[in-house]
Amino acid sequence: MKSKYIDFKNRIEYEKIDEASNAIREGELVLFPTETVYGIGANALDENAVSKIFIAKGRQSDNPLIVHISNSDMLKDLVTDIGNIEKNLMENFWPGPLTIIFNKTKNVPNNVSANLDTVGIRMPSNPIALQLIEKANVPIAAPSANISGKPSGTLIEDIIEELDGKVEYIIDAGMTDIGVESTVVRVIENKVHILRPGKITKEDIEKLGFEVVIERHILDEIKDNEKVMSPGMKYRHYAPNTKCVLVYSEKEENLINKIKELMITQKNCLVICKNENMEKYDTNNKIAMGRTIEEISRNIFTILRKVDSYNVDLVIIEGVEKNELGLAIMNRLIRACEHNYIEC
Ligand code: TXA
Ligand code: MG
Repeated sequence: MKSKYIDFKNRIEYEKIDEASNAIREGELVLFPTETVYGIGANALDENAVSKIFIAKGRQSDNPLIVHISNSDMLKDLVTDIGNIEKNLMENFWPGPLTIIFNKTKNVPNNVSANLDTVGIRMPSNPIALQLIEKANVPIAAPSANISGKPSGTLIEDIIEELDGKVEYIIDAGMTDIGVESTVVRVIENKVHILRPGKITKEDIEKLGFEVVIERHILDEIKDNEKVMSPGMKYRHYAPNTKCVLVYSEKEENLINKIKELMITQKNCLVICKNENMEKYDTNNKIAMGRTIEEISRNIFTILRKVDSYNVDLVIIEGVEKNELGLAIMNRLIRACEHNYIEC
């Protein structure tokens, strides 16, 4: 059976959200937009509804879900205590693309938190997401909308084939704004640890006067049986079937020369580069990532989903600066390339 489709691409009809909110209350799944990526939502307090998410995505049960709320009152039932730093982060970045890890209460089903004592919570800023939660009047557990291992869905056209029929409703609001998933943080001994980089950056958090620690696994490879704070980081993610290599240099000239060199040894390749470098590479197989770091962030998952259709032997991807939002992009790209990385 096909999913029921709600088209908000040109106009949002808020009354239509009620149908989808009812489905959430009845224990069904709804695919909905957030400002980062699309999510597959279920009532976070209903263990049975949440188990449907794991089936729809083919997701490992030891990978916890983020719980989405529409107002701070909802937190009371979900977390045992809220520290001062967390309070400050909430005041500054909610609603928005920041997930904060808290100690959870017993109300949070074990499958939401993958049997951890903690739960990740965020208040999205997308008005459709907020209204969906508010009308459902329950927190919504939602991972990114994609089959596990694939790039997260930022455009319904990219994911409809893999998810149609697996959810009750699909709410289509066009391309999502930010394009990479939320920043995930956990406060430990008064330091803010970034477990997954996103639009809210280290620099943004430091401006509030907090010490920020970037977890090593964000750009480094995770060794077998190494313990990571964010279970999602262990899994193969974002990688196309075609072999990809990420090339990075602080000097743009070195970067371009290295890619040209690779193009000589590997003739049947595809180059993914910044718009400004498009004419530098002598091939027809190339995709422009965007002009700014924000554009690249928005486009990157859609581009990664296209590369297999080029039928090449190697995809060569230009790296971006590893600071601010660039760090989030590099984290996704390095994983898309399965740590096949050249720094020159
Ligand atoms: O932007 C986003 O965060 C999107 C939209 C839909 O909100 N959601 C999303 O969810 O990206 P998901 O499930 O694809 O990624 C959640 C990440 C995973 O890496 C997971 O391991 C981590 O957050 N996570 C969730 N709960 C956690 C917890 N209690 N402790 C540590 N990491 C946690
Ligand atoms: Mg995901």
